[in-house]
Amino acid sequence: MTTYARIDELSAHAGTTVTVRGWVTHLRSSGKVAFIVMRDGTGILQTVLVKNAVPPEAWALFGELTQEACIAVTGEVRADARAPGGYELGIAGLELIGASPLDYPIQPKEHGIDFLLDNRHFWLRTPRQVAIFRIRNEIEQAIHDFFYDRGFLRVDTPILTAAIGERSGLFSTEYFEEGNAFLAQTGQLYGEAAAAAFGKIYTFGPTFRAEKSKTRRHLTEFWMIEPEVAFNESEDNMKLQEDMLTFIVGRVLERRQAELKECERDVSKLESVKTPFPRIDYSDAVATLQKKGSKVQWGDDLGAEDEALLVEDYDRPVFVMNYPKEAKAFYMKENPADPRTVLCDDCLAPEGYGEIIGGSQREDDLEKILHRLREEKLPEEAYDWYLALRKYGTFPHSGYGLGLERTVAWICGSQHIRECIAFPRMMHRLRP
Ligand code: 4AD
Ligand code: MG
Repeated sequence: MTTYARIDELSAHAGTTVTVRGWVTHLRSSGKVAFIVMRDGTGILQTVLVKNAVPPEAWALFGELTQEACIAVTGEVRADARAPGGYELGIAGLELIGASPLDYPIQPKEHGIDFLLDNRHFWLRTPRQVAIFRIRNEIEQAIHDFFYDRGFLRVDTPILTAAIGERSGLFSTEYFEEGNAFLAQTGQLYGEAAAAAFGKIYTFGPTFRAEKSKTRRHLTEFWMIEPEVAFNESEDNMKLQEDMLTFIVGRVLERRQAELKECERDVSKLESVKTPFPRIDYSDAVATLQKKGSKVQWGDDLGAEDEALLVEDYDRPVFVMNYPKEAKAFYMKENPADPRTVLCDDCLAPEGYGEIIGGSQREDDLEKILHRLREEKLPEEAYDWYLALRKYGTFPHSGYGLGLERTVAWICGSQHIRECIAFPRMMHRLRP
Protein backbone atom coordinates (compact mmCIF):
# COMPACT_ATOMS: atom_id res chain seq x y z
CA MET A 1 0.00 0.00 0.00
CA THR A 2 1.43 3.37 -1.04
CA THR A 3 1.25 6.16 1.51
CA TYR A 4 0.97 9.50 -0.25
CA ALA A 5 2.05 12.59 1.67
CA ARG A 6 2.09 16.31 0.98
CA ILE A 7 5.33 18.11 1.80
CA ASP A 8 3.82 20.07 4.70
CA GLU A 9 2.74 16.79 6.34
CA LEU A 10 6.14 15.09 6.29
CA SER A 11 6.92 15.65 9.97
CA ALA A 12 4.15 13.16 10.76
CA HIS A 13 5.88 10.55 8.59
CA ALA A 14 9.48 10.82 9.84
CA GLY A 15 11.24 7.45 9.67
CA THR A 16 8.64 5.90 7.36
CA THR A 17 8.41 5.43 3.61
CA VAL A 18 6.03 7.66 1.67
CA THR A 19 5.39 8.82 -1.88
CA VAL A 20 5.46 12.54 -2.61
CA ARG A 21 4.17 13.95 -5.90
CA GLY A 22 5.13 17.34 -7.26
CA TRP A 23 7.17 19.36 -9.71
CA VAL A 24 10.93 19.58 -10.16
CA THR A 25 12.43 22.94 -9.25
CA HIS A 26 16.19 22.20 -9.15
CA LEU A 27 18.40 19.32 -10.21
CA ARG A 28 21.98 18.67 -9.16
CA SER A 29 24.27 15.66 -9.50
CA SER A 30 27.84 14.74 -8.56
CA GLY A 31 27.87 11.60 -10.68
CA LYS A 32 27.14 9.20 -7.82
CA VAL A 33 24.67 11.21 -5.78
CA ALA A 34 21.90 13.38 -7.19
CA PHE A 35 19.53 15.86 -5.61
CA ILE A 36 16.05 16.71 -6.82
CA VAL A 37 14.43 19.70 -5.19
CA MET A 38 10.69 19.57 -5.73
CA ARG A 39 7.57 21.47 -4.72
CA ASP A 40 3.96 20.44 -4.40
CA GLY A 41 2.32 23.72 -3.45
CA THR A 42 2.49 22.97 0.27
CA GLY A 43 6.26 23.27 0.52
CA ILE A 44 9.70 22.57 -0.89
CA LEU A 45 11.40 19.20 -0.46
CA GLN A 46 14.97 18.12 -1.08
CA THR A 47 15.28 14.51 -2.16
CA VAL A 48 18.49 12.48 -2.49
CA LEU A 49 19.18 9.79 -5.03
CA VAL A 50 22.24 7.53 -4.54
CA LYS A 51 23.27 5.72 -7.75
CA ASN A 52 24.18 2.45 -6.08
CA ALA A 53 21.10 2.37 -3.90
CA VAL A 54 18.37 2.64 -6.59
CA PRO A 55 17.37 0.52 -9.61
CA PRO A 56 19.24 1.56 -12.79
CA GLU A 57 15.95 2.78 -14.38
CA ALA A 58 15.52 5.31 -11.58
CA TRP A 59 19.06 6.63 -12.03
CA ALA A 60 18.52 6.80 -15.82
CA LEU A 61 15.23 8.64 -15.35
CA PHE A 62 16.99 11.26 -13.23
CA GLY A 63 19.16 12.06 -16.28
CA GLU A 64 16.03 12.90 -18.28
CA LEU A 65 14.35 15.11 -15.71
CA THR A 66 13.85 18.80 -16.44
CA GLN A 67 12.56 21.80 -14.51
CA GLU A 68 8.78 21.53 -13.94
CA ALA A 69 8.56 17.85 -14.82
CA CYS A 70 5.88 16.29 -12.62
CA ILE A 71 7.25 13.35 -10.64
CA ALA A 72 6.48 10.91 -7.84
CA VAL A 73 9.29 10.01 -5.45
CA THR A 74 9.11 7.21 -2.93
CA GLY A 75 11.46 6.87 -0.02
CA GLU A 76 12.20 7.34 3.65
CA VAL A 77 11.49 10.66 5.35
CA ARG A 78 14.53 11.77 7.35
CA ALA A 79 14.83 14.69 9.71
CA ASP A 80 17.56 17.07 8.52
CA ALA A 81 17.95 20.45 10.14
CA ARG A 82 19.70 21.88 7.04
CA ALA A 83 16.95 20.87 4.60
CA PRO A 84 14.17 23.31 3.68
CA GLY A 85 11.21 22.34 5.82
CA GLY A 86 13.45 20.27 8.15
CA TYR A 87 12.99 16.92 6.30
CA GLU A 88 14.72 15.20 3.45
CA LEU A 89 13.62 12.19 1.45
CA GLY A 90 16.01 9.37 0.52
CA ILE A 91 14.78 8.15 -2.85
CA ALA A 92 14.11 4.44 -3.33
CA GLY A 93 11.79 4.88 -6.32
CA LEU A 94 11.31 7.60 -8.93
CA GLU A 95 8.50 7.89 -11.44
CA LEU A 96 7.69 10.42 -14.14
CA ILE A 97 4.06 11.63 -14.12
CA GLY A 98 4.32 14.41 -16.71
CA ALA A 99 7.38 15.45 -18.69
CA SER A 100 8.18 19.13 -19.25
CA PRO A 101 10.13 20.10 -22.40
CA LEU A 102 13.24 22.22 -22.00
CA ASP A 103 11.56 25.37 -23.35
CA TYR A 104 9.50 25.96 -20.17
CA PRO A 105 8.91 29.72 -20.35
CA ILE A 106 10.00 30.70 -16.85
CA GLN A 107 13.73 30.15 -16.38
CA PRO A 108 15.88 30.88 -13.32
CA LYS A 109 16.81 34.40 -14.48
CA GLU A 110 15.30 37.92 -14.42
CA HIS A 111 12.16 38.26 -16.53
CA GLY A 112 10.33 41.52 -17.31
CA ILE A 113 6.93 42.07 -15.72
CA ASP A 114 5.05 41.89 -19.06
CA PHE A 115 6.64 38.57 -19.89
CA LEU A 116 5.74 37.27 -16.44
CA LEU A 117 2.16 38.46 -16.82
CA ASP A 118 1.87 36.81 -20.25
CA ASN A 119 2.96 33.63 -18.47
CA ARG A 120 0.90 34.19 -15.36
CA HIS A 121 -0.36 30.59 -15.46
CA PHE A 122 3.24 29.48 -14.81
CA TRP A 123 4.48 32.50 -12.85
CA LEU A 124 2.01 31.55 -10.11
CA ARG A 125 4.19 28.52 -9.33
CA THR A 126 7.17 30.56 -8.12
CA PRO A 127 7.94 30.93 -4.38
CA ARG A 128 7.14 34.64 -4.03
CA GLN A 129 3.81 34.21 -5.78
CA VAL A 130 2.92 31.23 -3.63
CA ALA A 131 3.71 33.32 -0.54
CA ILE A 132 1.55 36.23 -1.74
CA PHE A 133 -1.42 33.92 -2.31
CA ARG A 134 -1.10 32.28 1.08
CA ILE A 135 -1.13 35.75 2.62
CA ARG A 136 -4.11 36.78 0.48
CA ASN A 137 -5.96 33.69 1.63
CA GLU A 138 -5.09 34.45 5.27
CA ILE A 139 -6.45 37.99 4.83
CA GLU A 140 -9.69 36.71 3.29
CA GLN A 141 -10.17 34.20 6.09
CA ALA A 142 -9.36 36.83 8.72
CA ILE A 143 -12.02 39.11 7.22
CA HIS A 144 -14.67 36.39 7.35
CA ASP A 145 -13.70 35.49 10.93
CA PHE A 146 -13.72 39.13 12.00
CA PHE A 147 -17.24 39.76 10.75
CA TYR A 148 -18.65 36.37 11.71
CA ASP A 149 -17.41 36.77 15.28
CA ARG A 150 -19.12 40.16 15.45
CA GLY A 151 -22.49 38.87 14.29
CA PHE A 152 -22.42 40.29 10.76
CA LEU A 153 -24.38 38.54 8.03
CA ARG A 154 -22.60 38.01 4.74
CA VAL A 155 -24.82 39.02 1.85
CA ASP A 156 -23.92 38.21 -1.75
CA THR A 157 -25.03 41.07 -3.96
CA PRO A 158 -25.60 40.92 -7.72
CA ILE A 159 -22.89 41.41 -10.30
CA LEU A 160 -25.35 42.16 -13.11
CA THR A 161 -27.13 45.37 -12.20
CA ALA A 162 -29.43 47.96 -13.70
CA ALA A 163 -28.54 50.73 -11.29
CA ILE A 164 -25.08 52.17 -11.05
CA GLY A 165 -22.82 52.87 -8.09
CA GLU A 166 -19.64 54.89 -8.33
CA ARG A 167 -18.55 57.55 -10.78
CA SER A 168 -15.91 55.65 -12.70
CA GLY A 169 -16.55 53.75 -15.94
CA LEU A 170 -19.08 50.98 -16.40
CA PHE A 171 -18.84 47.72 -18.28
CA SER A 172 -22.10 46.84 -19.96
CA THR A 173 -23.53 43.81 -21.62
CA GLU A 174 -26.78 43.09 -23.44
CA TYR A 175 -29.46 41.74 -21.17
CA PHE A 176 -32.35 40.07 -23.04
CA GLU A 177 -35.29 42.48 -23.49
CA GLU A 178 -34.18 44.66 -20.58
CA GLY A 179 -31.59 46.72 -22.44
CA ASN A 180 -28.14 46.94 -20.94
CA ALA A 181 -26.95 45.36 -17.72
CA PHE A 182 -23.92 46.81 -15.98
CA LEU A 183 -21.24 44.91 -14.10
CA ALA A 184 -21.36 46.01 -10.46
CA GLN A 185 -18.84 48.64 -9.39
CA THR A 186 -19.92 48.16 -5.78
CA GLY A 187 -22.32 46.08 -3.73
CA GLN A 188 -23.00 49.01 -1.44
CA LEU A 189 -26.45 50.09 -2.58
CA TYR A 190 -27.74 46.54 -2.10
CA GLY A 191 -25.78 46.39 1.15
CA GLU A 192 -27.76 49.39 2.42
CA ALA A 193 -31.04 47.63 1.70
CA ALA A 194 -29.70 44.51 3.42
CA ALA A 195 -28.58 46.51 6.49
CA ALA A 196 -32.18 47.55 7.07
CA ALA A 197 -33.20 43.89 6.84
CA PHE A 198 -30.38 42.25 8.80
CA GLY A 199 -28.78 45.03 10.87
CA LYS A 200 -25.09 44.40 10.24
CA ILE A 201 -23.95 42.97 6.95
CA TYR A 202 -20.95 42.70 4.68
CA THR A 203 -20.47 41.81 1.05
CA PHE A 204 -17.34 40.23 -0.39
CA GLY A 205 -17.25 39.98 -4.12
CA PRO A 206 -15.73 40.99 -7.41
CA THR A 207 -16.32 44.54 -8.62
CA PHE A 208 -15.67 46.04 -12.03
CA ARG A 209 -14.50 49.46 -13.15
CA ALA A 210 -13.92 50.40 -16.78
CA GLU A 211 -11.25 52.86 -15.74
CA LYS A 212 -8.62 53.70 -18.28
CA SER A 213 -5.94 54.00 -15.63
CA LYS A 214 -2.72 52.12 -15.93
CA THR A 215 -1.38 52.85 -12.45
CA ARG A 216 0.19 50.43 -9.98
CA ARG A 217 -3.04 50.42 -7.97
CA HIS A 218 -5.82 50.04 -10.51
CA LEU A 219 -7.40 46.90 -11.82
CA THR A 220 -10.56 46.70 -13.93
CA GLU A 221 -11.72 43.72 -11.86
CA PHE A 222 -10.97 43.66 -8.14
CA TRP A 223 -12.43 42.20 -4.97
CA MET A 224 -14.08 44.42 -2.41
CA ILE A 225 -15.31 43.88 1.14
CA GLU A 226 -18.20 46.19 1.98
CA PRO A 227 -19.72 46.22 5.47
CA GLU A 228 -22.88 48.24 6.05
CA VAL A 229 -24.19 48.85 9.57
CA ALA A 230 -27.55 50.22 10.67
CA PHE A 231 -27.23 53.03 13.24
CA ASN A 232 -23.47 53.42 12.86
CA GLU A 233 -22.34 56.99 12.48
CA SER A 234 -19.15 58.15 10.83
CA GLU A 235 -16.97 57.74 13.94
CA ASP A 236 -18.35 54.20 14.57
CA ASN A 237 -17.54 53.47 10.95
CA MET A 238 -13.89 54.47 11.36
CA LYS A 239 -13.67 52.47 14.58
CA LEU A 240 -14.84 49.37 12.71
CA GLN A 241 -12.26 49.99 9.97
CA GLU A 242 -9.34 50.32 12.36
CA ASP A 243 -10.42 47.29 14.38
CA MET A 244 -10.74 45.23 11.21
CA LEU A 245 -7.37 46.31 9.77
CA THR A 246 -5.56 45.70 13.06
CA PHE A 247 -7.17 42.26 13.24
CA ILE A 248 -6.14 41.36 9.69
CA VAL A 249 -2.55 42.54 10.09
CA GLY A 250 -2.29 40.78 13.48
CA ARG A 251 -3.52 37.53 11.96
CA VAL A 252 -0.99 37.65 9.11
CA LEU A 253 1.82 38.41 11.56
CA GLU A 254 0.71 35.53 13.75
CA ARG A 255 0.35 32.90 11.05
CA ARG A 256 2.29 33.94 7.96
CA GLN A 257 5.80 34.84 9.08
CA ALA A 258 7.44 32.46 6.58
CA GLU A 259 5.49 33.98 3.70
CA LEU A 260 6.26 37.54 4.81
CA LYS A 261 9.93 36.57 4.84
CA GLU A 262 9.65 35.14 1.32
CA CYS A 263 8.20 38.53 0.29
CA GLU A 264 11.14 40.23 2.06
CA ARG A 265 8.63 42.27 4.04
CA ASP A 266 9.93 44.49 6.85
CA VAL A 267 7.55 43.15 9.50
CA SER A 268 8.40 45.89 12.00
CA LYS A 269 6.33 48.19 9.75
CA LEU A 270 3.32 45.90 10.18
CA GLU A 271 3.85 45.50 13.92
CA SER A 272 3.17 49.21 14.45
CA VAL A 273 -0.34 48.90 13.02
CA LYS A 274 -2.24 49.53 16.27
CA THR A 275 -5.42 51.43 17.07
CA PRO A 276 -6.25 54.25 17.20
CA PHE A 277 -5.34 55.45 13.72
CA PRO A 278 -4.83 59.21 13.33
CA ARG A 279 -7.89 61.11 12.02
CA ILE A 280 -7.10 64.13 9.88
CA ASP A 281 -9.76 66.53 8.72
CA TYR A 282 -9.66 67.04 4.94
CA SER A 283 -9.12 70.80 5.30
CA ASP A 284 -6.14 70.22 7.62
CA ALA A 285 -4.79 67.62 5.19
CA VAL A 286 -4.92 70.14 2.36
CA ALA A 287 -3.14 72.77 4.49
CA THR A 288 -0.42 70.25 5.46
CA LEU A 289 0.01 69.15 1.86
CA GLN A 290 0.32 72.71 0.62
CA LYS A 291 3.02 73.32 3.24
CA LYS A 292 4.82 70.24 1.91
CA GLY A 293 4.77 71.74 -1.58
CA SER A 294 1.70 70.05 -3.11
CA LYS A 295 -0.45 71.97 -5.60
CA VAL A 296 -3.67 70.47 -4.19
CA GLN A 297 -6.55 72.94 -3.77
CA TRP A 298 -9.49 72.76 -1.37
CA GLY A 299 -12.17 70.89 -3.30
CA ASP A 300 -9.87 68.41 -5.07
CA ASP A 301 -9.84 64.72 -4.30
CA LEU A 302 -6.37 63.65 -3.12
CA GLY A 303 -4.17 61.99 -5.75
CA ALA A 304 -1.71 59.16 -5.14
CA GLU A 305 1.20 61.54 -4.65
CA ASP A 306 -0.68 63.64 -2.10
CA GLU A 307 -1.68 60.51 -0.20
CA ALA A 308 1.94 59.35 -0.04
CA LEU A 309 3.10 62.78 1.08
CA LEU A 310 0.50 62.95 3.82
CA VAL A 311 1.21 59.55 5.39
CA GLU A 312 5.01 59.89 5.46
CA ASP A 313 4.87 61.24 9.02
CA TYR A 314 2.90 58.26 10.36
CA ASP A 315 3.72 54.63 11.13
CA ARG A 316 0.18 53.31 10.73
CA PRO A 317 -2.88 53.84 8.50
CA VAL A 318 -4.40 57.31 8.57
CA PHE A 319 -7.99 58.47 8.10
CA VAL A 320 -8.65 61.59 6.07
CA MET A 321 -12.16 62.71 6.97
CA ASN A 322 -14.94 64.85 5.63
CA TYR A 323 -14.05 65.64 2.04
CA PRO A 324 -15.81 68.33 0.00
CA LYS A 325 -19.10 67.16 -1.47
CA GLU A 326 -17.99 67.65 -5.06
CA ALA A 327 -15.03 65.31 -4.61
CA LYS A 328 -17.17 62.38 -3.46
CA ALA A 329 -20.17 60.22 -4.38
CA PHE A 330 -23.78 61.44 -4.20
CA TYR A 331 -24.80 59.05 -1.42
CA MET A 332 -22.57 60.49 1.32
CA LYS A 333 -24.27 62.33 4.17
CA GLU A 334 -23.95 66.07 4.39
CA ASN A 335 -21.79 67.13 7.34
CA PRO A 336 -24.06 69.13 9.71
CA ALA A 337 -21.00 71.00 11.06
CA ASP A 338 -19.90 72.12 7.58
CA PRO A 339 -22.43 71.48 4.79
CA ARG A 340 -19.78 72.01 2.10
CA THR A 341 -18.41 68.64 3.19
CA VAL A 342 -19.68 65.09 3.71
CA LEU A 343 -19.27 62.61 6.58
CA CYS A 344 -16.77 60.29 4.98
CA ASP A 345 -13.29 58.89 5.34
CA ASP A 346 -10.56 57.50 3.16
CA CYS A 347 -8.19 55.18 4.98
CA LEU A 348 -4.66 55.60 3.64
CA ALA A 349 -2.16 52.80 4.16
CA PRO A 350 1.30 53.77 5.43
CA GLU A 351 4.52 53.60 3.37
CA GLY A 352 2.85 55.32 0.41
CA TYR A 353 0.41 52.52 -0.47
CA GLY A 354 -2.43 55.02 -0.62
CA GLU A 355 -6.19 54.60 -0.22
CA ILE A 356 -7.21 51.10 0.74
CA ILE A 357 -10.67 51.95 2.13
CA GLY A 358 -13.34 54.45 1.14
CA GLY A 359 -16.15 54.83 3.64
CA SER A 360 -18.97 57.13 4.66
CA GLN A 361 -22.12 57.71 6.60
CA ARG A 362 -24.95 57.56 4.05
CA GLU A 363 -27.35 60.39 3.31
CA ASP A 364 -30.59 59.33 4.98
CA ASP A 365 -32.64 62.41 4.07
CA LEU A 366 -34.75 61.79 0.96
CA GLU A 367 -34.83 65.42 -0.19
CA LYS A 368 -31.08 65.88 0.23
CA ILE A 369 -30.15 62.70 -1.62
CA LEU A 370 -32.59 63.53 -4.45
CA HIS A 371 -30.95 66.94 -4.74
CA ARG A 372 -27.51 65.34 -4.99
CA LEU A 373 -28.69 62.81 -7.60
CA ARG A 374 -30.02 65.66 -9.72
CA GLU A 375 -26.83 67.69 -9.26
CA GLU A 376 -24.83 64.71 -10.51
CA LYS A 377 -27.34 64.23 -13.38
CA LEU A 378 -27.84 60.59 -12.43
CA PRO A 379 -30.94 58.72 -13.73
CA GLU A 380 -33.48 58.89 -10.89
CA GLU A 381 -35.53 55.95 -12.26
CA ALA A 382 -32.57 53.59 -11.89
CA TYR A 383 -32.39 54.48 -8.21
CA ASP A 384 -36.10 54.22 -7.37
CA TRP A 385 -35.74 51.28 -4.97
CA TYR A 386 -32.67 52.82 -3.36
CA LEU A 387 -34.48 56.10 -2.78
CA ALA A 388 -37.44 54.21 -1.32
CA LEU A 389 -35.14 53.09 1.54
CA ARG A 390 -35.24 56.78 2.57
CA LYS A 391 -39.03 56.92 2.32
CA TYR A 392 -39.95 53.89 4.41
CA GLY A 393 -38.21 53.92 7.77
CA THR A 394 -35.08 55.86 6.90
CA PHE A 395 -32.25 55.20 9.34
CA PRO A 396 -28.73 56.44 10.03
CA HIS A 397 -26.22 54.00 8.60
CA SER A 398 -22.62 53.80 7.51
CA GLY A 399 -20.32 51.50 5.65
CA TYR A 400 -17.12 51.24 3.71
CA GLY A 401 -15.30 49.35 0.99
CA LEU A 402 -11.91 47.72 1.48
CA GLY A 403 -10.02 46.94 -1.73
CA LEU A 404 -8.62 43.44 -1.27
CA GLU A 405 -5.73 43.62 -3.75
CA ARG A 406 -4.51 46.97 -2.46
CA THR A 407 -4.57 45.54 1.06
CA VAL A 408 -2.64 42.45 -0.05
CA ALA A 409 -0.08 44.67 -1.84
CA TRP A 410 0.44 46.75 1.29
CA ILE A 411 0.74 43.80 3.68
CA CYS A 412 3.09 41.89 1.34
CA GLY A 413 5.06 45.03 0.52
CA SER A 414 4.37 44.49 -3.18
CA GLN A 415 5.05 47.32 -5.58
CA HIS A 416 2.23 46.25 -7.86
CA ILE A 417 -1.34 45.21 -7.36
CA ARG A 418 -1.21 43.01 -10.49
CA GLU A 419 0.75 40.32 -8.64
CA CYS A 420 -1.82 40.33 -5.82
CA ILE A 421 -4.66 38.77 -7.84
CA ALA A 422 -4.26 35.41 -9.57
CA PHE A 423 -5.26 36.51 -13.06
CA PRO A 424 -5.26 40.31 -13.22
CA ARG A 425 -7.61 42.23 -15.48
CA MET A 426 -6.32 45.59 -16.61
CA MET A 427 -7.01 47.93 -19.48
CA HIS A 428 -4.61 46.08 -21.79
CA ARG A 429 -4.83 42.64 -20.28
CA LEU A 430 -7.63 40.12 -20.64
CA ARG A 431 -5.54 36.92 -20.77
CA PRO A 432 -4.40 34.45 -19.54
O1 4AD B 1 -13.55 54.34 -2.77
P1 4AD B 1 -14.36 53.36 -3.53
O2 4AD B 1 -14.66 53.68 -4.96
O3 4AD B 1 -15.68 53.16 -2.69
C1 4AD B 1 -16.75 52.41 -3.02
O4 4AD B 1 -16.83 51.68 -3.97
C2 4AD B 1 -17.84 52.46 -1.99
N1 4AD B 1 -19.08 51.97 -2.61
C3 4AD B 1 -17.44 51.64 -0.79
C4 4AD B 1 -18.48 51.65 0.29
O5 4AD B 1 -18.62 52.65 0.95
N2 4AD B 1 -19.20 50.56 0.48
O6 4AD B 1 -13.64 51.95 -3.52
C5 4AD B 1 -13.34 51.33 -2.29
C6 4AD B 1 -11.96 50.72 -2.33
C7 4AD B 1 -10.83 51.70 -2.56
O7 4AD B 1 -10.43 52.31 -1.36
C8 4AD B 1 -9.75 50.81 -3.12
O8 4AD B 1 -9.08 50.11 -2.08
C9 4AD B 1 -10.53 49.82 -3.93
O9 4AD B 1 -11.84 49.82 -3.44
N3 4AD B 1 -10.54 50.19 -5.35
C10 4AD B 1 -9.77 49.59 -6.30
N4 4AD B 1 -8.88 48.61 -6.22
C11 4AD B 1 -8.28 48.21 -7.36
N5 4AD B 1 -8.54 48.76 -8.57
C12 4AD B 1 -9.45 49.75 -8.70
N6 4AD B 1 -9.72 50.25 -9.91
C13 4AD B 1 -10.11 50.23 -7.53
N7 4AD B 1 -11.05 51.17 -7.29
C14 4AD B 1 -11.29 51.13 -5.97
MG1 MG C 1 -12.39 56.03 -2.96
